[in-house]
Amino acid sequence: MTIRVCLAGATGWAGSAVARALTQTDDIELVSAVSRTYAGRVLGDVLAEPRLTALVFATAQEALTAHPCDVFFEFTKPDVAKLNVLTALEHGAHGVIGTSGLTDEDYEEIAKAAEKYQRGVLAVGNFALTVVLLQKFSEIAARFIPQWEIIDYAHEHKKDAPSGTVRELVNRLSKIRPSELTVPLEQTQGVKDTRGARMNGSQVHSLRLPSYTISAEIIFGLPDQRLTIRHDSGTSAEPYVDGSLLAIRKVNTFVGLRRGLDTVLDLS
Ligand SMILES: NC(=O)c1ccc[n+]([C@@H]2O[C@H](COP(=O)([O-])OP(=O)(O)OC[C@H]3O[C@@H](n4cnc5c(N)ncnc54)[C@H](OP(=O)(O)O)[C@@H]3O)[C@@H](O)[C@H]2O)c1
Repeated sequence: MTIRVCLAGATGWAGSAVARALTQTDDIELVSAVSRTYAGRVLGDVLAEPRLTALVFATAQEALTAHPCDVFFEFTKPDVAKLNVLTALEHGAHGVIGTSGLTDEDYEEIAKAAEKYQRGVLAVGNFALTVVLLQKFSEIAARFIPQWEIIDYAHEHKKDAPSGTVRELVNRLSKIRPSELTVPLEQTQGVKDTRGARMNGSQVHSLRLPSYTISAEIIFGLPDQRLTIRHDSGTSAEPYVDGSLLAIRKVNTFVGLRRGLDTVLDLS
């Protein structure tokens, strides 16, 4: 059975890489795309890839109404992502979320809708295999080491903070335990904000500076020893493609919300 996909953000940096990859698959068909700028055009004309015959729509609602799909793939911006996924669930599609910047409250709402419509939603802060491993190794370390802090690095244009990768990491670690603080934040002398933000039991520091692409670093500390786990992304969207295709193939295998590609991978 071919999996029919609607790709929101198909003309963007990440979405266009996934769209191009879909021309190489036999089991997945791109039936519609979403982008405001190129609405009404054929995606293949926009991306100079004649094999992409899907039409581009200005909104998810229009795309989903015109062409039913099995999986709605969200790769746009956080301000429309939640509404897009809720609309897709109403239309009977499963959802894959690659867009970063959704809050835990957004995910709670999406989880309820997924249960209501008996569909799967897979939210992946980062589709790269090396990031999946960063998350997994960090979870193991947090079981043994009670103190850690996280640094989120990105280019100066990135508006959302922290990154989707770091949000997901924090969410995962919160299920293990909160990171301990030897000096409680309220007892900080000087400027408390320099200690970063407390998110779900982790201390997070976001840097936005020219020269970075996107990196995440978690530092675990024990007396007289330290463990640093760090991930650095390059400049192409290539690392996200294989994970995106895997998510499309796996999202119909469960009902409800899952966060992280490892939830559909066997990493044991
Ligand atoms: N999970 C991961 O592994 C991963 C990897 C890379 C990126 N991301 C995240 O994915 C998202 C997209 O990143 P990107 O770098 O590809 O961004 P981008 O290059 O700016 O592309 C955004 C895409 O979304 C469309 N779009 C934006 N706002 C829209 C709206 N209101 N309605 C309809 N379409 C809209 C854009 O087309 P129009 O402007 O023409 O509407 C464009 O096609 C970001 O949140 C980014 O952080 C996640």
